[in-house]
Amino acid sequence: MCGIVGYIGDKQAAPFLLDGMSKLEYRGYDSAGIAVFEKGRIRVEKCVGRLEALRQKLSGNMPAGTMGIGHTRWATHGRPSDRNAHPHADSSGEFVVVHNGIIENYMSLKEELLAKNHVFLSETDSEVVAHLMAVNYNGDFEETVKKVLGMIEGSYSLVFLCAKEPDKLICTKKDNPLVIGLGTGENFIASDIPAIIAKTRRTFIMNDGEIATVTKDAVWVQDIKGTPISKKVFEVNWNAEAAEKGGFEHFMLKEIYEQPKAMRDTMTGRVAHDGSRIDFEELNWTKEDFADISKIFIIGCGTAYHAGMVGKYYLEQLARVPVEVDIASEFRYRNPIIDSSCLTIIISQSGETSDTLAALKEARRLGSRTLAITNVVGSSVAREADQVAYTHAGPEIAVASTKAYTTQLLLMLMLAVYVGQIKGNLNDDRTRELVTAIKQVPEQIHQLLENVEQLKVFATQYGNSEDVFYLGRSLDYAVALEGALKMKEISYIHAEAYAAGELKHGTLALIVEGVPVIVLATQNDVYDKTISNLQEVKARDAVVIAIAQEGDSNIAKYADHVIFIPRAEKYLTPLLSVLPLQLLAYYAALTRGCDVDKPRNLAKSVTVE
Ligand code: AGP
Repeated sequence: MCGIVGYIGDKQAAPFLLDGMSKLEYRGYDSAGIAVFEKGRIRVEKCVGRLEALRQKLSGNMPAGTMGIGHTRWATHGRPSDRNAHPHADSSGEFVVVHNGIIENYMSLKEELLAKNHVFLSETDSEVVAHLMAVNYNGDFEETVKKVLGMIEGSYSLVFLCAKEPDKLICTKKDNPLVIGLGTGENFIASDIPAIIAKTRRTFIMNDGEIATVTKDAVWVQDIKGTPISKKVFEVNWNAEAAEKGGFEHFMLKEIYEQPKAMRDTMTGRVAHDGSRIDFEELNWTKEDFADISKIFIIGCGTAYHAGMVGKYYLEQLARVPVEVDIASEFRYRNPIIDSSCLTIIISQSGETSDTLAALKEARRLGSRTLAITNVVGSSVAREADQVAYTHAGPEIAVASTKAYTTQLLLMLMLAVYVGQIKGNLNDDRTRELVTAIKQVPEQIHQLLENVEQLKVFATQYGNSEDVFYLGRSLDYAVALEGALKMKEISYIHAEAYAAGELKHGTLALIVEGVPVIVLATQNDVYDKTISNLQEVKARDAVVIAIAQEGDSNIAKYADHVIFIPRAEKYLTPLLSVLPLQLLAYYAALTRGCDVDKPRNLAKSVTVE
């Protein structure tokens, strides 16, 4: 996720900006830049790569000025490059902006500006904002910001510099974080508290729709109609490390809690405003594109492979195309039967996993069309595949994947609806129903995250078990696999997932008194069958923790404990049922004193075979 810093005061801005940006490095970034008001003009300096590259570029020639903004970029539109790095300016260089988030309608705005002969220097969505400021400037900086906010759609935190009004910074936000730090004779802006706590602990959080005018001596907050807003200032008492994790104990927990926002970002620009359909502008597929596709392969490793298993259900059920799911390290050596009538979907959070990349190359060599689903813009799989759809989950730092998985599921569900629409498998009513259900998920996840006490108790009760089993049928089975992986990788408990119907073909021999068995029972069409399997393990005195949909009044008769997830459309249940499994693994790892964010023997990105 991008990082933002801003400074206005009596001191030199550039050293603070660089220092503040370094405190946001943990969030991941691919390029960095600053803009400082220097000798009557705004000087912008930026480059691709680490902050060190920017420092070297500026060495001996640091911008001199007491007001400026800085940005570390995590690419969303346009690959990492010097030109795509922020800050962005309009053609005159008088308006400069840094932006976190996505401007959803940037294409149409850009086309209008291009028609008026505006020249764009980057491929970013953010640059349009600087141009819009210049076009709409009427001698009043605040009013121009408000006018531009009325034109843009999407999610953003934005900080503006205007060379004509060099005594202030203006910032605003929607669905992206922004905080103001209050000093004496100086004030600060940041996307996240770690960037400013070395300078001040007096802060306030900006809310959506608020616009702050920040001068060196004062901060004035208003809404878009000009109504003044008084803000409650608080003292931050976190240390620097806690601040990086947003107050959470671990990155994994922070990322679990980021899932509602990550979901919204995955949807951005893809869900029609009237809820009638899903569109992937970046793919722009037509019915003809699918006329000759006889089969889809989905390939990934670990969690990404598990996401692929859910994706198979989605694509087969909603788009009616046969799907084969493969582990990348198997696919690349198994001489698969694949040709130009196939579409290969590669899933990878990092976009750099060696086996996944090799599988992608193999699919291409055999003539398949390829689509990469990844979280990292400009990553190797994104560059190698014919087409790419980004999950926009923001950087995932914990080794155990959480928000990457749920955004992969969501993206594949939207892809399946998209293909279903294109092929005519889904009528308007069914599409609308699915889109409505999709839009509810962030809020449903939020609800789940509000209520985790029960999970903490289970993790303490069963966290010292030697083994734990996960059972489920259909979509529940695919989620069970992911739940078991989470448990083993961070708590080191031996955890296995089985298709519930497979149990009696061998695994039942391992079920003995007191063994915890987590049974997912969220799929109505196989519910009775799952309950029979649940009874099979209960009969061997296992302790059953069931995951069921709210309103299921039957399940408590059979299970020892029940965790309820909000009732949802069948295809959305995996996005909800995985949440308690992520949290159970997390709290079990805590119970056992494990290093949650850096589990033994594992790396975040596996770039070797
Ligand atoms: C899951 O928690 C893991 N960290 C791991 O299985 C991961 O999903 C796998 O290594 C694939 O990584 P990728 O998505 O970056 O390709």
